[in-house]
Amino acid sequence: MQAEHEGGNHMADPYPKYARLRERGAVHRVRTPFGGDAYLITRYAEARAALNDPRLSKHPKNAPAFLREAGLVTGDAGPLGVNMLSCDPPDHTRLRRVIGKAFTARRVLALRPRIQEITDDLLAALPAGEEVDLIEGFAFPLPITVISEMLGVPVSDRDRFRTWSRDLISTASAPEVRQRREAAATALTGYLSGLVAERRERMDRELASEAQPDLISALIVAADRHGELDETELLGELMLLLVAGHETTVNLIGNGTLALLRAPDVLGALVADPGLVPAAVEELLRYDGPVERATLRTAVEDVDVDGVTVPSGSLVVVALNCADRDPARFDRPDELDLARPDNQHLAFGHGPHFCLGAPLARLEGTIAFTSLLGRFPGIRLACPPERLQWRSQSAMMILRGLETLPVILG
Ligand code: HEM
Repeated sequence: MQAEHEGGNHMADPYPKYARLRERGAVHRVRTPFGGDAYLITRYAEARAALNDPRLSKHPKNAPAFLREAGLVTGDAGPLGVNMLSCDPPDHTRLRRVIGKAFTARRVLALRPRIQEITDDLLAALPAGEEVDLIEGFAFPLPITVISEMLGVPVSDRDRFRTWSRDLISTASAPEVRQRREAAATALTGYLSGLVAERRERMDRELASEAQPDLISALIVAADRHGELDETELLGELMLLLVAGHETTVNLIGNGTLALLRAPDVLGALVADPGLVPAAVEELLRYDGPVERATLRTAVEDVDVDGVTVPSGSLVVVALNCADRDPARFDRPDELDLARPDNQHLAFGHGPHFCLGAPLARLEGTIAFTSLLGRFPGIRLACPPERLQWRSQSAMMILRGLETLPVILG
C-alpha cells in the first residue's frame, strides 16, 4: 500500500480525490506532516465499524509518539484537556452519563424560543440588497451565543473564545502555532476556572438548588455534591462543550447554505415548503459535513480493515465526509436530494462517541435555515464559488468550513 499525500485543491473540493481513494480501497496509509503515517478509512461500512470498534482507543496515552512530539497530545490529554472525546470506557461511560444528564433533550427543547429569538435578532440586523458575510453576521454568532448562554458563560466574552478556540483546534506543526495552541489552552483553562469559582461562590451564597438553569452549575453540582467528576474533568468538559458547541454548527450553516446556493432547484423547493427543512438539514450534513474527519484514534491491537492489517500503535483517521459520499451506501451520493431515504449519515459520528450535541445542532440548523430562507428567499452568492475562502487547516484537518460566505440577501 502506497503512502498518500494530500495537496492540490483539497480544501475547495475534497470529493474527487476522496472518490478516487474510496474506489481504490477502504483504507489508505497517508503521510501526516508530523513525521508519522496514519490510516485513513474512506468507505462507509468500514468507517461505521471503526467508529464503534473498542480496539481503536481515543485515549492520548495510546497515541503514537510522533503526535506527542508534535505537541498535539500529551500523555494525559490533548490541548482540550481531559474530556469524554479523549478517553475510553469506563471513564468515557461515566463522563458521558454525567454530561448527558446535564445536557438533556428537555433542556435542549426548552431552548427553542430563545434560539428563535437570537436567530431573528441576527437576521434583522443584516442589510438586504448589499454584500454581507453570512459567516460573520449569522453562522458564527448564532451557535456561540446559544452555547454560551446554555453553559452560563458571558456572551460578551465570545470574541475571546473564538480566538482561543481557533488556536486550540489548529493542528499545524509550526512552532509558533504550537505555542499559540498551548497559550490558548492555558488562557481558556484559567478563564473557566475563574468562572467556576465565581459560580461556586454564588451557589453557596444563594443556597442554590440542583435546579440551577445553566450547565456550569449543573456540572458543579455533579462534581461537588455527587463526586461524579473531578476538577480537571469539569474544566475539560466545559472546554469541549464550548469548542464543539460552536466550531461545528457554524459549518453546518455555512457549508449548508453554500450547497443550497449551488443547487437552485433544491433551494427553490425548500423556500416553497419549509416543512422540508429537517430533512434538508440531514442531507446537508451528509453532503458536506462540518467535521471532515473524526477525531484521532489509535489501534491498540492489530485491526483488519477490508483485508488490510492496521498494526497496533497506528493512528487511524475516519474520513466522515468521504464515507458519506460512498455510492455503496448512498445512491447518487454527489447529488443533494431532500427525499433521500434512510439517510443514516456519519456526520455526527457513530458508536460510543456519537455527538452529544446532535439534538442541539439539529434544532439550531432547522431554525437557522427556516428563518434565513423565510426572511431572504432571494439570497444569492456575491462572488463566484471558486473565489470562496475555505478555512485552511493542515493535513490532520478535522473541521471543514468557510472563512467567509459573501452573499446578497433579498
Ligand atoms: C462528538 C459532530 C455539534 C458536542 C462529535 C463527533 C462528531 C460530531 C463527528 C464524534 C467525533 C469522533 O467520534 O471522533 C458534530 C457536528 C455538529 C456538532 C457535525 C454540528 C452540526 C455539537 C454541539 C455540541 C457538541 C452543538 C455541544 C454543545 C459534542 C461532544 C462530543 C461530540 C461533547 C463528544 C461525545 C463523546 O465523546 O462521547 N460531534 N457535532 N457537538 N460532540 Fe458534536
